[in-house]
Amino acid sequence: MASQAPSEILDGIAAARIAFEKNEAGSREALIDYSRALISSLEIPSEFVQRTFWAEPAQSAIIRIAVDVKLFQHLEEAGNKGLSPSALSEKTGINVSLLERLIRHLVAMNLITFHNGVFLGTKLSNDLAAEKYQHSISFCYDASRPAFNGFPEHFKNNGYQPPTLSGLDGPFQSAHKTDRAFFDWLVATPPHLDYFSSFMASYRAGKPDWFDFYPVQERLIEGFDASANEALLVDVGGGRGHDVTTFAARYESRPGKIVLQDREQVIATVKVEGTELPFEVQAHDFFTPQPIKAARAYSLHSILHDWGDEESVKIIENLVPALKKGYSRVLFNEIVVSEEKPTLAATNMDMMMLAHLNVRERSEAEWTSLLAKGGLKVIKVHTYPGVAESVIEAELA
Ligand SMILES: C[S@@+](CC[C@H](N)C(=O)[O-])C[C@H]1O[C@@H](n2cnc3c(N)ncnc32)[C@H](O)[C@@H]1O
Repeated sequence: MASQAPSEILDGIAAARIAFEKNEAGSREALIDYSRALISSLEIPSEFVQRTFWAEPAQSAIIRIAVDVKLFQHLEEAGNKGLSPSALSEKTGINVSLLERLIRHLVAMNLITFHNGVFLGTKLSNDLAAEKYQHSISFCYDASRPAFNGFPEHFKNNGYQPPTLSGLDGPFQSAHKTDRAFFDWLVATPPHLDYFSSFMASYRAGKPDWFDFYPVQERLIEGFDASANEALLVDVGGGRGHDVTTFAARYESRPGKIVLQDREQVIATVKVEGTELPFEVQAHDFFTPQPIKAARAYSLHSILHDWGDEESVKIIENLVPALKKGYSRVLFNEIVVSEEKPTLAATNMDMMMLAHLNVRERSEAEWTSLLAKGGLKVIKVHTYPGVAESVIEAELA
């Protein structure tokens, strides 16, 4: 498709504005997409080069410094009074003339404001002051960015081939001059594992949960049969229980139990002495047979995208014998890449996967064929405006 003319995009913005004012789902994200398209349609090459290769790299470098000197936290604490350049220089330890230059760039990028001689935080910079985002910035700058910067040299040297199955010869290894796989490198080089955990826990923050658009009442609660198994939902590889905690709160008067499964080491950190959890926990390696038979639903959220096709089929094959035909559903919460109209959220994640691991995001056709190899058929792909991941609902073929 030819790129859109600015006037067409402006019409789209006008329509999205009405939806935004009515608080319609996806309208905020649509406005952001239109704004990006508008910039692309208006920018001339010299402006494009300056934005992409000067303004944005400089901004991320300054924001990484901001993490070290707690710049956003100081501005947030100062509130409406703001901080003069000299006051901010004193708090951050950055020479005032250097500080003014660095922050002026953030003002030009609309992240900080400057008014009546003082710098003021914005809603966005104040939100970024939260620890989870400070850690995410450090992870993305220190671990991911060198891998992206190294793409041209790495792929030229390897004849433009993807990393091999071992995942030990990708852009990440070239950039960080390591023989370790990404996850081993995180563990071996503190504090990267901590920063990565914060990044993982916060990258979906502010977006609807899967059960905001998957019809839980109609597809899981209606027809639930406790005589088959008391389990309503088993979250396989559910981490520390982010999904099941919110699911349990949303469906307080649900029938049946919720079970969180993950590796022993992860489950051990979930059980806190003296606290009652709204779900059961169970250590389970998903490369071994699923011990809970005939549950109403098994959820695998961002699980298969971590694995190649061969391992993914093994994970499914270990689940399939537990399913009750015509009753149990499997919910794969995953990005479905559109070949026609890929979203930035989908390609962003795909590039992160290329930069760090030898895995990739999949299209609907690839998902359907992968699940079929494991003995499942797709019933429906549930999507929601502005949400990167879809719920791929499947059952025994
Ligand atoms: C990308 S995280 C997804 C976590 C959670 N489902 C979410 O969406 O936030 C992958 C999860 O798989 C778990 N995992 C990795 N290997 C596993 C295995 N062999 N058996 C069970 N869980 C495993 C990890 O501990 C981690 O919690």
